[in-house]
Amino acid sequence: MQGRTRVPGDKSISHRALILGALTVGETTVAGLLEGEDVLHTAEAMRALGAKLERGADGLWRIHGVGVGGFAQPAAPLDFGNSGTGCRLALGAVAGNAVTATFVGDASLSKRPMRRVLDPLERMGARVIEAVEGDRLPLTLQGAADPIPITYESPVPSAQLKSAVLLAGLAAPGETTVIEAEATRDHTERMLKHFGAKLVTKPCGEHGRRIILQGQPELEPANVVVPADPSSAAFPLVAALLVPGSDLILDAVMTNPLRTGLLATLREMGASIEAVATRDDGGEEIADLRVRASALKGVEVPAERAPSMIDEYPILAVAASFAQGETRMRGLKELRVKESDRLEATAAMLRGNGVTVEIEGDDMIVQGKGAVAGGGEAKTHMDHRIAMSALVMGLAADDPVRIDDSAFIATSFPGFVELMRSLGADLA
Ligand code: S3P
Repeated sequence: MQGRTRVPGDKSISHRALILGALTVGETTVAGLLEGEDVLHTAEAMRALGAKLERGADGLWRIHGVGVGGFAQPAAPLDFGNSGTGCRLALGAVAGNAVTATFVGDASLSKRPMRRVLDPLERMGARVIEAVEGDRLPLTLQGAADPIPITYESPVPSAQLKSAVLLAGLAAPGETTVIEAEATRDHTERMLKHFGAKLVTKPCGEHGRRIILQGQPELEPANVVVPADPSSAAFPLVAALLVPGSDLILDAVMTNPLRTGLLATLREMGASIEAVATRDDGGEEIADLRVRASALKGVEVPAERAPSMIDEYPILAVAASFAQGETRMRGLKELRVKESDRLEATAAMLRGNGVTVEIEGDDMIVQGKGAVAGGGEAKTHMDHRIAMSALVMGLAADDPVRIDDSAFIATSFPGFVELMRSLGADLA
């Protein structure tokens, strides 16, 4: 793995830029938007709710929004495809508007829990008109004409849940407060401020935060620059660590401290990852990362680190398989409700390629032997991150690894195969 590249834009920031642009009167521009299927579904949903969104020939997205509380009644169900983020954030945004919308998604999204988001949104005045048993999609939500501000103590460390409450709180008078016991990614908070909302964040407890949003702001149109997605960078990065002789630079990777758990863990394992240039771009820290092949050792990953690397456990488990010694990853409960049951899907992917791995409660324990046999076929379960992790494992394993379905890679990382090939990876 040799060369210099930039992975596509950050998925979390891309969804948020489209939704906040849609809630703002005037022209918002977004540079470097991730044009993956997940985000394109959010763009379509915002159009269906009355916003105008166009992609210029220059790649810049221009959004003319409707203003807080200004969504139009959509004519058809809003389809979020594979995306929990798009769906949950849009549920929050719709909850503060006097419209009724039906939310649909693919088979994976239709299995995922929505009750966590519906609880606070119902307290704010939204109503679930219809849902599949267990509050799954398809689900019809009636937004509140006069949403009520609440103080919400989040029972799960989820940035999606926090963001849904804050987006609904935009349309409520007075202060909406979210209290989280574990700080989760704060892109919604940063971007709300970038659009002119009044929002204050205070520390709360050992690892938590209290976020207070002043409702009914006049959002001002903004220019958003989307940095490269650290969760996507993780794949070429780990490939470079594992493939002997690699030396790679990944440009402009977002290094928001609430997203860098993987970098911290890999460095503890002995990885050579150097931030060669750091800067601030559009309200987020970014860095060019130089990565060189490294001998890794097993480590213990504390549960408190989970929110800052929640999407990176499958690829960390691959790195751990090539390390020397045991890696124990603690507190992975939330992995069970991602695009797949990622705890089981990751373990099965590793076992099918000769790695010893156990699940004990919410912990995953990988026995690293310095090398991986490979030769297996991984079941991806409609989960992009399992697909890409398995392919990276194959690059460094003794025998190639197959995946049963590559289609879902396009949800978050369009051009993955071409980008990896351009760095020297042998993917057929
Ligand atoms: C995201 C938050 C995380 C993460 C997802 C993106 C976001 O989900 O897994 O890929 O953009 O807010 P949870 O907040 O539910 O853990």
